[in-house]
Amino acid sequence: MMRNVEPRNKIQRILLVEDDQGLQKQMQWALHPAPVVTAGTRSEALRAFEDGDIRLVILDLGLPPDPDGATEGLRILDAILSSAPQTKVIILSGNANREVAVAAVARGAFDFVSKPVDIEVLKLIVQRAERMFELEEENRTLRAYADKRMPGFVYGSSQMQQVAQTIERVARTDASVLVLGESGTGKELIARALHESSPRANAKLVAINCASIPENLLESELFGHERGAFTGAVKQTLGKFEIADKGTLFLDEIGDMPLALQAKLLRFLQSKQLERVGGRQTLSVNVRVISATNQPLTALVKEGRFREDLYYRLNEIRIDLPALRDRDGDAIILAQHFRGLYAREHGRNLKGFTKDALMALQAHKWPGNVRELENRVKRAVIMTDGPLITAEDLELVADGKPRNLNLRDHMRELEGALLREALAVSDGNVSKAAKLMGISRPQVYNLLSAQKRRA
Ligand SMILES: Nc1ncnc2c1ncn2[C@@H]1O[C@H](COP(=O)(O)OP(=O)(O)OP(=O)(O)O)[C@@H](O)[C@H]1O
Ligand SMILES: [Mg+2]
Repeated sequence: MMRNVEPRNKIQRILLVEDDQGLQKQMQWALHPAPVVTAGTRSEALRAFEDGDIRLVILDLGLPPDPDGATEGLRILDAILSSAPQTKVIILSGNANREVAVAAVARGAFDFVSKPVDIEVLKLIVQRAERMFELEEENRTLRAYADKRMPGFVYGSSQMQQVAQTIERVARTDASVLVLGESGTGKELIARALHESSPRANAKLVAINCASIPENLLESELFGHERGAFTGAVKQTLGKFEIADKGTLFLDEIGDMPLALQAKLLRFLQSKQLERVGGRQTLSVNVRVISATNQPLTALVKEGRFREDLYYRLNEIRIDLPALRDRDGDAIILAQHFRGLYAREHGRNLKGFTKDALMALQAHKWPGNVRELENRVKRAVIMTDGPLITAEDLELVADGKPRNLNLRDHMRELEGALLREALAVSDGNVSKAAKLMGISRPQVYNLLSAQKRRA
């Protein structure tokens, strides 16, 4: 299935951390046309890194205020690898610093280049690092895709991988979890995944939507009521908390809970005890609480519309679900997932998406997030004449250029890629590269000069 997925746009940039302006310029030029961001100090480097989209860093170890040592560079290395361990960091080091460079590799850097920098060597290492990153990423995607513990929860992006890790980690605890995210990002799905991967999975998950129940009924919905507690209370009724005993209670749209009830909810969360409406008996209940909202809760707290103490109670662990447009590559993975799902359901034999449709899926901003995507794909599956779903079927505009199908262009590209790889694995030794490629040395030289002419 992953074979249908197009590689995503290479929007990622290279971060070049080097305090020598001349060297900075030279390398930037050598790496052209790859987009390069430069930094000359640790703080600049970390700020640039946080701006995102960086998968490759070229890092000079000696930076001010310690230009002859390596403390600044190593601190940058550690900071980057601890926040994004998949990043490939190539170390630049003075000859005297070779040992430090080796130590940096031991700490997780990808490789190192000694100064003075041989640009051709650097280019080859950069290519190898990018290839490695891509292979690893493909691997991560496949692994994530096969996440059997949470069937129905589909993702491939590193952003959602982090969410999955959080779920896994907090599932076994009883901590209350607050799930925040735009409409349609999968908050309810996450709540279910959490419950199902928790030790409470054998008990119930009880959901209540705080926005859809009138204020005067919400209290008895949550806490239950005794017979005769109010007009219409003809029999004793258990509340959601009691029904969820030993299981999980999911408070959806918590941002819409009225203030008076917030106080009661807080009291329950503190004591784990409750009284039914109109009742005198105190009951102990053992529930784990997950809540969710697409409202800006902290803003509601500031405005006095949501209790701060309750906010902290609900928010022992917080899961921020990224919007679909911020999940790298997930739109296509999810589209393929829903295509398979609905094609099966409707007995349609659909092979996939046209190139136009894939590009449109990537370009669209998804204001309605996963729900919007699911609806578009579902409708397309029903409407299309097949065998491929088009951008039009999805009611999306195809933007972007048509794909270049010229065979010669592609052969040249392939030649170049194989040549670079062969030279990289044979450390630039042309005879070895020729052997690997099954061609003669002169042919390698021909290819090299042809590539140079075109570059
Ligand atoms: N990662 C995912 N993998 C597969 N399906 C998903 C994923 N995320 C969301 N969905 C599907 O998208 C739809 C919307 O998800 P869900 O109802 O959980 O969103 P929500 O954040 O609760 O939305 P709202 O804020 O509107 O209540 C559901 O059909 C859900 O199954
Ligand atoms: Mg919801």
